[in-house]
Amino acid sequence: RFAYVNGRFVRYGSATVHIEDRGYQFADGVYEVIALAGGKFVDLDLHLQRLDRSLSELRIERPMSDRALTFVLDNLAKRNGIRNGSVYLQITRGVAPRDFVFPRDAVPQVVAVARRAKPIAQTAIEDGVKAITIPDIRWARCDIKSVALLPAALGKQAAREAGAYEAWQYDRDGFITEGTSSNAWIVTPDGDLVTRPATNAILNGITRLVVIELAKAAGLRFVERPFSIKEAHAAREAFVTSTTSFVMPITQIDETPIGNGKPGSFTRELREKYMAHMA
Ligand code: PDD
Repeated sequence: RFAYVNGRFVRYGSATVHIEDRGYQFADGVYEVIALAGGKFVDLDLHLQRLDRSLSELRIERPMSDRALTFVLDNLAKRNGIRNGSVYLQITRGVAPRDFVFPRDAVPQVVAVARRAKPIAQTAIEDGVKAITIPDIRWARCDIKSVALLPAALGKQAAREAGAYEAWQYDRDGFITEGTSSNAWIVTPDGDLVTRPATNAILNGITRLVVIELAKAAGLRFVERPFSIKEAHAAREAFVTSTTSFVMPITQIDETPIGNGKPGSFTRELREKYMAHMA
């Protein structure tokens, strides 16, 4: 198995970065997770655009062209013999003696790993999964895909310990922002498909963007607005979207079953359309 580290493909077991990498000390870096389906990257251009935006928001110099990055990621997948799975790409500001201020001549550190898709249980798709709700304790720039993921790790752990797949985070006004690693969606009793607008409060998911287009094309009534925990509990359907979950039905939020407790028609339609989009 191979990883990519700063211009080289190296054995996974000996793929290392320096202990004074700013990613390690300050979470001073960004990442992308890009799906591979049938040997092709899914919406690679959109991921590279978002990566560019994350880098420029943090004023990290872009280390490589899109062409070079694409070549590296493609090569990484091929060397590892992975046709269905994902690649993780991380770029940090660089290695320098610990100091909060940006180092003068930082050289961005680029690492990537590829992994095979772990199959999603058929029962999860057929029956849906559970989400819990937790306070959103993250910073004010959730639109940047930074490697500062401690709140997400704590939230996901809380979900697992509650027997749930995901934790939906809520802001101080009781409105859902998003999952720890996914965007949150509901269908209201009136049949509106709702997800929170892409402000600094959420990561603008690539899957989210694609599903919005699919929903519009399918003629579903789509409304971009914040929704409350209460609305989520009373929803007819709920689901999450992400690169690794695609469209995943949520059939229980906290102790409340959603709709009739089975994945609803909007969710099933959008999942099917998204799987076709990936293929
Ligand atoms: N997470 N919101 C958050 C906070 C995320 O971390 C992610 C993705 C998403 C969905 O974005 P996308 O559709 O572009 O994958 C929303 C990735 C998968 C991860 O951290 O593993």
